[in-house]
Amino acid sequence: MSKVIIMDHPLIKHKISLLRDENTGTRDFRILVEEIAMLMGYEALRDLPTELVSVKSPVAESMQPMLCGRKLAVVPILRAGLGMVNGILALVPSAKVGHIGLYRDEVTHEPHEYYCKLPENIDERLVILPDPMLATGGSAIQAVDFIKAKGCTNIKFMCIIAAPEGLEALKNAHPDIDIYVGNLDDHLNDAAYIVPGLGDAGDRIFGTK
Ligand code: PRP
Ligand code: URA
Repeated sequence: MSKVIIMDHPLIKHKISLLRDENTGTRDFRILVEEIAMLMGYEALRDLPTELVSVKSPVAESMQPMLCGRKLAVVPILRAGLGMVNGILALVPSAKVGHIGLYRDEVTHEPHEYYCKLPENIDERLVILPDPMLATGGSAIQAVDFIKAKGCTNIKFMCIIAAPEGLEALKNAHPDIDIYVGNLDDHLNDAAYIVPGLGDAGDRIFGTK
């Protein structure tokens, strides 16, 4: 079964509350999304493997832990996932970045793919898939389907706000991935928006409405 980790850090909770506020403008919204992504990334990357290597300090040489093993790729789901990329890259600056473009049809709420570009050897990488919102789960499920079809087996999905409906759907569709959630909200409304949520994440990040 999927490992689901719901954040309980007060800094993340506080910043998500600020994000929700309808008076938070584009500039602050962007900064907050990036900060939350970094704080969540710290948790999501907790199990990165390390190996002992020799390090010579001014005082003595000793064996010390350094990151090793599979390389990372951050693959945001466009558009809104883009807002989380720099927060994650602040922790792992050498990670490669891919993009999956999906938009949700306003009437059917079904995801449609319009763009995809992934780093080389994506199947050998740990793939972090950020998207601020997990609503019906359709977009996340399709993005993971796509990444898996490229041979990826080590996938972590990261969202700032999830609806219970979307979380359940993603867990059922992809029981083998890890899911990191900033906050689990109450429900979806008739327009498949998360309640209380924060509105349209893409529009609020890019100021398009
Ligand atoms: C939003 C959000 C997710 C998706 C979630 O994107 O960023 O990708 O909706 O909804 P779902 O779980 O019901 O699929 P949207 O389709 O609005 O595109 P955008 O990021 O370009 O605004
Ligand atoms: N996409 C968003 O940006 N917000 C929601 O509440 C649902 C889907």
